[in-house]
Amino acid sequence: MAPSMRQRPFENFRVAITDPKYYFGRREIIQTIASAPFQVNVLLGGRRFGKTSTLHAIQWALIDSNGRGRAFPVYINLRLEQPRSVDHFRFLLIARLRENIDRMKRISSPMLHDAFRQIVSHIDTLEVGIKWAIEFKIKFRDGNASKLEELDNAEFRHLFLLCLSDLRRSQYNGICFLLDEAEVVTKDDWANDAWSYFRALKDTDEAIRPFLGLVLSGYRDLRAYQQRTGSPLRNIANVIWLRSLSISQVQQLTAQRRTDENAQPSKIENDELSLWAGGHPYLVQQMLNLLIDRRQNEQYGHIGIITSQLMRQHREEFSKWWNLDQKSNGFDSKERYVYKGLVSLREGNIASVALETSLSFSDVEDALDVLAGTGLIRQIEGDRYCITTRLFEEWVLKQGPPD
Ligand SMILES: Nc1ncnc2c1ncn2[C@@H]1O[C@H](COP(=O)(O)OP(=O)(O)O)[C@@H](O)[C@H]1O
Ligand SMILES: [Mg+2]
Repeated sequence: MAPSMRQRPFENFRVAITDPKYYFGRREIIQTIASAPFQVNVLLGGRRFGKTSTLHAIQWALIDSNGRGRAFPVYINLRLEQPRSVDHFRFLLIARLRENIDRMKRISSPMLHDAFRQIVSHIDTLEVGIKWAIEFKIKFRDGNASKLEELDNAEFRHLFLLCLSDLRRSQYNGICFLLDEAEVVTKDDWANDAWSYFRALKDTDEAIRPFLGLVLSGYRDLRAYQQRTGSPLRNIANVIWLRSLSISQVQQLTAQRRTDENAQPSKIENDELSLWAGGHPYLVQQMLNLLIDRRQNEQYGHIGIITSQLMRQHREEFSKWWNLDQKSNGFDSKERYVYKGLVSLREGNIASVALETSLSFSDVEDALDVLAGTGLIRQIEGDRYCITTRLFEEWVLKQGPPD
């Protein structure tokens, strides 16, 4: 197959969506978080399942919302920012917050919302925010310039409240930090202190508590960390798993892509897409790339050519999900076992999968949560699940005997 010369947005739909036009589904989750933005939410989902894109969509929803509970969104990717300590973490939060306020203020058009929505998902430098926080600190510490990129509690509170009063003039009533890839900090010793600190702010600090929201995104390591340490934040957090897109959402996404790329829809191709990619948005996008290229190159070979190409392309991704070497934050042995059990049953509930695998109900329930939150099985209703995403299933079946 000839390689595609087409330039597609988001690096061929491989990086997070930053334009609302291309974001589909997950409305309920976005609505839940945006309608009560001053809470603590933990958003869980597998690699490439749309966590970063969903955090962007939450930002757009927060900017669009009106009324008394309006929160100013501040997105921070913890893997990129690499906080080193609680004090440095506090500094980064304030620097990003200030940066976002500054970006909002630079837009002076009557279409402020639209323009702000456009830029808010694009990460750029932190210069303005850093300068602002450092200048404050020098003043606050009476010229003592040591440890400039760190803020203690008093400094953090002071700057947070300054930003808050600034934001009130733009009709925002509080601030919601969206902390992407939050599990990277769980590996550091100071993480417990950081999460206890936020818990204390949310519990007892009356000046801050009602105006501060947090959304942490991650996957199994974040969930396991919270369970293991009995993280104080977990006790007050709503835990939300991302789920597969529905068939009709996949169809909407497909229709948008085909209109954009001027490619005629075909019912057979749409059915193949749902079968092989399931409701996994990343795999849907990658399969669409190939289907549209094939059509435009006027090559109508067997679908098997496309699916084997996709399996080859995603070999590494799939083995990280399957995680046989236990290095990737993918499945553990129980999850693999439950997946294979559900493959034999095709469709089942907690009781029938427990019977099939001889695992306990709670182990099965946990594993089904993780598998559905990775986009490889679909929750049909209640506790019933079925296998989707045949691409991954075929790849697993080629992995040989169960481990
Ligand atoms: N809601 C969505 N609508 C359309 N495409 C999506 C959606 N969520 C994810 N995608 C696709 O999946 C890819 C990976 O999404 P991303 O948000 O980076 O996932 P994660 O942060 O979980 O690794 C995106 O490039 C996009 O092509
Ligand atoms: Mg991401």
